[in-house]
Amino acid sequence: MKHFFIALMGLVFAATVPARGDHQDLSLLVAPELVSSGLMAFLLPRFSLKTGVKVHAEPLDAGRASGNTMQLQPGTGTPALTRQDQTYGLTPPDMDDKPAVRFFDWVMSDIGQRTINQFAPNGAQMFFGAADNVVATRATAQVGDVSRGAALSYVHCGRCHVVGARNRMSGIGSTPSFGLLRGLDDWEDRFRAFYALNPHPSFTQIAGITAPFDKTRPSPIWPLALTSAELDDIVAFTAGITPLDLGAPLVHQ
Ligand code: HEC
Repeated sequence: MKHFFIALMGLVFAATVPARGDHQDLSLLVAPELVSSGLMAFLLPRFSLKTGVKVHAEPLDAGRASGNTMQLQPGTGTPALTRQDQTYGLTPPDMDDKPAVRFFDWVMSDIGQRTINQFAPNGAQMFFGAADNVVATRATAQVGDVSRGAALSYVHCGRCHVVGARNRMSGIGSTPSFGLLRGLDDWEDRFRAFYALNPHPSFTQIAGITAPFDKTRPSPIWPLALTSAELDDIVAFTAGITPLDLGAPLVHQ
């Protein structure tokens, strides 16, 4: 019996301690009235259900020191919601903190904003989503890492594309530069799908996405292999490139 109990405790312990390297929890310091109004209890389970990220929200008065913990507070951060004439903002996340990035993106997204608008405990809407302009600026950065993306772009794409000043003279002349591509309205779609757009499929492999090369048609050149996380990094880097402005609408052949 005693052994059974110890074994059981072991199980309980194992089940409550997240696996190493699995940062699926997020701490959030929230203006007390957002907790007492019930908004957090309404919002957070919906986010967790969707993403698997668990949020621990604690009430905290604005202005109290808190280290790096993400905060939702009046009069500071990126506007997320309003109540009467008070605007509450979310501190922008550290890009390495994936749960925080996901929470930020979710709150600022259409779904997050609609969820805020739906909260009406006594039949009357209490809060109003205020993220109108944020989504567009954040959407392109997503979860990628800009400096990793720069390194990856120069190494992999710089073989053919002029990526930036560092390889200005070494791209292949007939290949559009990153600056030129960045000037296209749908640049982000093209980058996210570049491996499916010619000429890349014959030499590009994205782990878990592309099929292996056909054995009868091996890559004609040194293959390009990336993970989808690395492609996120490249997109994050490309988002920050100054679009090449040719002064007229670009026609891409
Ligand atoms: C071996 C040479 C080569 C490499 C390596 C290469 N590209 Fe390209 N890429 C091209 C050429 C050539 C085109 C122009 C194709 C055309 O205009 O039809 C192109 C076009 C593109 C386009 C526009 C595609 C379209 O149809 O709109 C994107 C986006 C792109 N490349 C992204 C990348 C990224 C990101 C990398 C690195 C991860 C990369 N490329 C690596 C040769 C290359």
